[in-house]
Amino acid sequence: MNKEIYNKHKITTVDLCLFFNMKNFSKDLLDWYNVNKRPFPWRENINVYHTWICEIMSQQTILSVVLPRYKEFIKELPNLKSLAFCEDERLRKLWAGLGYYARARNLRKGAQFIIDEFQGTFPTNYSSWIKVPGCGPYTASVIASICFNEPVACVDGNVVRVVSRLLNLQANVWDKQGQDYIHRYVNQLIPIESPGDFNQAMMDLGATVCKKQNPTCEICPVKHYCQAFNKETVSLCPPVKPRKNSQEENIVAVIFKKISSDEVLLIMREQGFLAKTIGFPLISSNENLKIQISLDAIKKMGFSFTKLTGEFKHSITHHKIVGTAILVNDFNFNSKTEKIFQKQFKFSELQWIPFSQLKHNLSSSLDLKVLKILSSI
Ligand code: ADE
Repeated sequence: MNKEIYNKHKITTVDLCLFFNMKNFSKDLLDWYNVNKRPFPWRENINVYHTWICEIMSQQTILSVVLPRYKEFIKELPNLKSLAFCEDERLRKLWAGLGYYARARNLRKGAQFIIDEFQGTFPTNYSSWIKVPGCGPYTASVIASICFNEPVACVDGNVVRVVSRLLNLQANVWDKQGQDYIHRYVNQLIPIESPGDFNQAMMDLGATVCKKQNPTCEICPVKHYCQAFNKETVSLCPPVKPRKNSQEENIVAVIFKKISSDEVLLIMREQGFLAKTIGFPLISSNENLKIQISLDAIKKMGFSFTKLTGEFKHSITHHKIVGTAILVNDFNFNSKTEKIFQKQFKFSELQWIPFSQLKHNLSSSLDLKVLKILSSI
């Protein structure tokens, strides 16, 4: 341990003694895990493909949402080959509700990469998995430890919380130095006989006992090792994570409806944070451009519209979106409007969908919010 980190975390000789007293920690944790582990389908039999899919799905999506989607995905795409050759539209449907569709495309890219670079055989260690598209250090260490018994630490938000309480770290856990320190610490605790179970036990402990709010310390299997518990400082650990400045963005969702039928226009968007998803044409304004200015721009294009009541709000990593839905229901596709349309909305496909079918064609929750507004008029 270097001196700076030592000082930064105020690690004392007492703490170091406690560290050496951790030798039974993993045994106690694993005994608890063997009885209390959460019964996830990917835990029934260890399978590399299943572990990989569930890890990618559960990045940024809560497990209760992942579970039904995971089962469906595995049923429809049961192996590497079926994933590698899955059509875009089918993949999008299988990913519906999970958000961040780029993850699904990377997953498919990863499957193609394994077929091309590893002759269709799954890599068997951390340093190869990290090369697979869409696979970062966390995913690589989950797969390497669970499927190949490699003793590499998996540090997610739950594990950071557990360690910060174990060591009573009340500051500096979220910066690079703090994260490196926690990684090194967990790497020292991890037992070489059962690294995968240990990592999953740490995650489960964080998710079910050592929770952010209302932790149940009285039933914690490792409370005797926990400095925050002993010093009654659990509520101070970990310190609040500094928020990245989230940008506020204004968006106008344009609902183009044919005059002669109830068909509505959807496009395959090719730009912005919803690129590669099918949905309503969107006009996104930069920081200085407010909604009114976007609306004026639409007027200038020659479309007359009705502003629908009901703002929609949407949050996506570091973006807070305030949206307005507008209805253009005298839309007439001719050579002039088509040109304007193509210039404004970068898209690769265009479909007219009957109103009653819209919900089956939309996957982003932002589009579903717009649909809800449209349905309420
Ligand atoms: N979150 C994502 N993957 C997990 C796993 N294998 N165990 C517990 N929590 C998880």
